[in-house]
Amino acid sequence: MASDNRHAQRIVVGIDGSSSSGHLPPARSSIPCSPRRLAGSRFLGAALAAAVLVAPCTVATAGTASAAVAGEPGAPGQGDPYFPLAGNGGYTVGHYDLGLAYDPATRRMKGDATLSARAVQDLSAFDLDLSGLTVTGVTVGGKEARFERRGQELVITPGRVLRRGAAFEVRVAYSGVPQYVTDPDGSEDGWIATDDGAFVAGEPQGAMSWFPSDNLPLDKASYSFRVTVPAGYTAVCNGELTSQRTRNGMTTFRWEQTQPMASYLATATVGKFEVERYTTASGVPVYNAVDPRESADAAPALAKIPEILDWGTTLFGPYPFSSAGAIVDRAPDAGYALETQSRPLYDRAPNVGTVVHEMAHQWFGDSVSLTNWRDIWLDEGFATYAEWLWQEQHGGTSAQARFDQYYALPATDGIWAFPTADPGEGADIFASPVYDRGAMVLHELRSAVGDARFFNILKTWAREHRYGNGTTAEFVALSERMSHQDLGPLFHTWLFTAGKPARS
Ligand code: TRP
Ligand code: ZN
Repeated sequence: MASDNRHAQRIVVGIDGSSSSGHLPPARSSIPCSPRRLAGSRFLGAALAAAVLVAPCTVATAGTASAAVAGEPGAPGQGDPYFPLAGNGGYTVGHYDLGLAYDPATRRMKGDATLSARAVQDLSAFDLDLSGLTVTGVTVGGKEARFERRGQELVITPGRVLRRGAAFEVRVAYSGVPQYVTDPDGSEDGWIATDDGAFVAGEPQGAMSWFPSDNLPLDKASYSFRVTVPAGYTAVCNGELTSQRTRNGMTTFRWEQTQPMASYLATATVGKFEVERYTTASGVPVYNAVDPRESADAAPALAKIPEILDWGTTLFGPYPFSSAGAIVDRAPDAGYALETQSRPLYDRAPNVGTVVHEMAHQWFGDSVSLTNWRDIWLDEGFATYAEWLWQEQHGGTSAQARFDQYYALPATDGIWAFPTADPGEGADIFASPVYDRGAMVLHELRSAVGDARFFNILKTWAREHRYGNGTTAEFVALSERMSHQDLGPLFHTWLFTAGKPARS
């Protein structure tokens, strides 16, 4: 079970910046301008507060300019062109504390999520993204808050307005059988049950199938996980395992991801796994969890992890995270791998190319995240080009030869189905124009600026946007700045123009 008395003891920061131990009576009132709300404001003296109790709300508002703020509801989405309801307006999250209990036999989950957030506007209400499951209670600043479900939006109305700049904690208790989200391309995304647990991969939308979040890569946060499963099962999350305890036939795994992470990269994959732990010669702790049915096939690629880490560090700059590894599951319903932060998740035994791809994402995608999903090529084009580079530098096909192979494809081939940086709403963003043509874009750039400048651009991109986000326009600008070349025509043709580009 996810119950944890740390919450009861913790001093939480109130919505007005005050501390409270969380034992205050719940705010029952649903009247927006209720005296109770105003009386709690630190800006009101006792006498004034008493006056407010009998005064109509509008008068109190007019008379106490610094105190009575009506606030507005945060937007239900962040305006992503492809996923307009992804993410939410009005606040940002600094940390997620996720307590989960999962029973693979019944597929039931019990969740207890605490988000440490900050209001960026005066907020009367705000949304979290959550799909399915049953919410059993919400508190804000330790006090019960009203909530409502509207599709994937969990709309929360705290007892009083959250002032702009105020830190607050929102805690959501929930339970149920998680249902994966279906992507535009029809694939399963999120909490995907397997025959021995769950394969948990949230790109692009699936995080909301298992925890409430601000579900857009722009709002990155650190994470603590506390996952309880029946003894014999292993729960693997991002970052470092800080404790593992078995009591009364249940094992609780605690994981900490201290570097900022996008919600889609979070995992809490559950299964019967063989666990391997070691530290690389370069000092990176590695934790691998492998389905025993896949372990023989997975061993050769997993053995390359230290070498791939060092190779990536040489090529792209310092490895961004404090641990590494792999989760190799058997998840035929998923059918894809995901670059879950610090510890990629594979649906089956991967080959070396796939491990290179997912590990390259740690720099490109995980540390440097996209801003809008339209820019997915900044993840997939880069990770695919990393595979080309690995091949080229390990006795395989040269990147030029690969480029030529793809370029030889006829104009009717799927690789030219849409422009790399403009897939279009509803398009399959995990398709060849993003992956393969995306890698071709980088190869064109390399051909135009030369190796030294090209690799310097990649390193600079990773450094300047480390733990943050980037856009296509920023990458184009960086490339031009570092090459002192007008690359407008190259990028216009390769990123934005429909159809097979003419030879430059
Ligand atoms: N980003 C993953 C990778 O390239 C692939 C991926 C994530 C995916 N979610 C998906 C592919 C959904 C198809 C459908 O490593
Ligand atoms: Zn990828």
